[in-house]
Amino acid sequence: MAEESQKWILMVTARTPTNIAVIKYWGKRDETLILPINDSISVTLDPDHLCTTTTVAVSPSFEKDRMWLNGKEISLGGGRYQNCLKEIRRRANDVVDEKKGIHIRREDWENLHVHIASYNNFPTAAGLASSAAGFACLVFSLAKLMQVKDDLGQLSSIARQGSGSACRSLYGGFVKWVMGNDVSGSDSIAVQLANETHWDDLVIIIAVVSSRQKETSSTTGMRESVETSTLLQHRSKEVAPKRILQMEEAIRNREFESFAKLTCADSNQFHAVCLDTSPPIFYMNDTSSRIISYMERWNRFEGTPQVAYTFDAGPNAVLIARNRKAATLLLQRLLFYFPPLPENELSSYVIGDKSILQEAGLQSLKDVEALPPPPEMKENIPSKKFIGDVSYFICTKPGRGPVLLTDEDQALIHPKTGLPK
Ligand code: DP6
Repeated sequence: MAEESQKWILMVTARTPTNIAVIKYWGKRDETLILPINDSISVTLDPDHLCTTTTVAVSPSFEKDRMWLNGKEISLGGGRYQNCLKEIRRRANDVVDEKKGIHIRREDWENLHVHIASYNNFPTAAGLASSAAGFACLVFSLAKLMQVKDDLGQLSSIARQGSGSACRSLYGGFVKWVMGNDVSGSDSIAVQLANETHWDDLVIIIAVVSSRQKETSSTTGMRESVETSTLLQHRSKEVAPKRILQMEEAIRNREFESFAKLTCADSNQFHAVCLDTSPPIFYMNDTSSRIISYMERWNRFEGTPQVAYTFDAGPNAVLIARNRKAATLLLQRLLFYFPPLPENELSSYVIGDKSILQEAGLQSLKDVEALPPPPEMKENIPSKKFIGDVSYFICTKPGRGPVLLTDEDQALIHPKTGLPK
């Protein structure tokens, strides 16, 4: 190594969004390389509300690769982490920092160790795709540190090997993960369909649903579906390819009706596949089903869809409203059916972009209590309320892709000790 001192530490910090699939990825044709059985399409969520921040540091004084997630050390021993680290190191380049007097040669990277600290700005336990943002951020920040050629497509194929859905988090806006054909996986990459400004009317409200149940992980669930579900075979061959084309067109032309119908149908088919798996998998619970029927009823009442719903491998609802007006009506409905527990504050029950609360005329719990039943409820049926069945709501929107954070204050690793701050 050109630099003799063992003291230097070089760091990079980045922030990466999470994403929600509107045409789902469910099923692999290669478990190790993580190659899917159909294309999928997602919307990137605004990183201001849901994101992972990761700092990666390198120093000749580090004795092994180490990682901390939300302050707790975790093992990097798993194959997925190892594959990502190996693929990035393979593409590393010479790195020179004149100010610090550092010169790392391409071949040095094999012998240098990294420290990684990662933090989610949302509760990991909430069951919101944290692995997607996490692996995307790990790969993006390592690539910046090791000055890997700036090719997001290539990086997406590395992030894919951490977690399939992570490859779609390398872009903002609307993203397609092309399944590819090659056995090496080199053509199984993410591509951006449109950036986050293309369809900026959309508003997203996530209902984080209270759940006591331990869920089957996506990885295990999809393996069992591939092995046992005939509906999944039909879906991947016949249904998903057609929906992908229709969804691309809906996004291109900002056709909400088609977008909403496809999104809801695809979520429902994914959960039907789960039920068709042996033994059956239940990701949604009673609250999820209730949300679906309320949304269906409202859309039918309006004559044209106001909202799309989609659920991943858990009970949380991701609701996409056609515009801000629809979002305020949506939030009023959600709070009418699912008011907070009396001890909750409205300001901690609805988080993220709080301006929607104001636009919906809701300033306090009193305003929530005073909400009238939605007009689509038949007058003779008393409208039931389900207090406490939703933990909280996150108001957000489609957002941008990964960014580098250059301010040292935002780094999660101490520049002197090389350990988490
Ligand atoms: C239901 O990407 O978490 O969210 O590739 O095994 O890590 P692995 O699975 P993961 O699966 C995501 C499944 C999904 C649908 C989707 O995001 O497309």
